[in-house]
Amino acid sequence: MLEIKDIHKTFHKNEVLKGVSIKVEKGDVVVILGPSGSGKTTLLRCINFLERADRGEIIFDNLGVNIASATSGDITKIRKRTAFVFQNYSLFNNKTALENVTEGLIIARKIPKPKAIEIAKQSLDKVGLSDRYNYYPSMLSGGQQQRVGIARAIAVNPDVILFDEPTSALDPELIGEVLGVMKRLAKEGVTMVVVTHEMTFAQDVANHIVFMDKGVIVEEGNPKDFFSNPQEERTKQFLLRIVPNNDYSI
Ligand SMILES: Nc1ncnc2c1ncn2[C@@H]1O[C@H](COP(=O)(O)OP(=O)(O)OP(=O)(O)O)[C@@H](O)[C@H]1O
Ligand SMILES: [Mg+2]
Repeated sequence: MLEIKDIHKTFHKNEVLKGVSIKVEKGDVVVILGPSGSGKTTLLRCINFLERADRGEIIFDNLGVNIASATSGDITKIRKRTAFVFQNYSLFNNKTALENVTEGLIIARKIPKPKAIEIAKQSLDKVGLSDRYNYYPSMLSGGQQQRVGIARAIAVNPDVILFDEPTSALDPELIGEVLGVMKRLAKEGVTMVVVTHEMTFAQDVANHIVFMDKGVIVEEGNPKDFFSNPQEERTKQFLLRIVPNNDYSI
């Protein structure tokens, strides 16, 4: 359904992505792992043109876009097929939970307000916030704010949702509620690409793991093989560091 091919991105002579390719099928949960600075966020941002890669291709079914020559029309089409969930939620503080979700529907997707409100309420209900429509972000916990971020993403009915460390800004006791919502979406068949350090989520929910380091994919595979039988030395080191005492027999 989505294929990204040979993505390259350089910031001020620093080559951050050195030719990254990933295939995502409908219903896949692809988890991207990797140390800090390996290019995970940059990759996600390049997929929906929050950042423009220097070269590479993004192919959504029958829509293929060469990044170097992409027009603003191409970019709009790609953006319509994706939604982004940010580490720091990125909500409008002066808007209620409901308004945060309707905003993109009304402005970007040109959906009439009454319909937008209906969709936004359904989306908030889905993430367990049916009693928080009129709360401002400052009146919500971090976990609730991130669930508004997820509601905003599902409301636009994208082909794929891109999550960039959605739980890393949360207190430990709030992480579970957000991962729980993501797990439910995965079960419903929502296609997701998730950058996370939550290894239990990666093992339980992902059907494909991509491990990046220094701007390249070092290793990828299904979670069982990846965690129990990593092939590359770099992967083994990473797993040992992130899962202490890992004997690779999970
Ligand atoms: N806008 C930018 N301008 C210049 N350099 C950037 C920019 N964005 C990212 N970089 C650099 O690109 C590299 C990869 O950054 P990126 O944020 O993609 O890493 P990451 O894998 O998401 O790391 P983390 O796990 O810490 O979030 C880093 O060296 C970073 O400094
Ligand atoms: Mg990052």
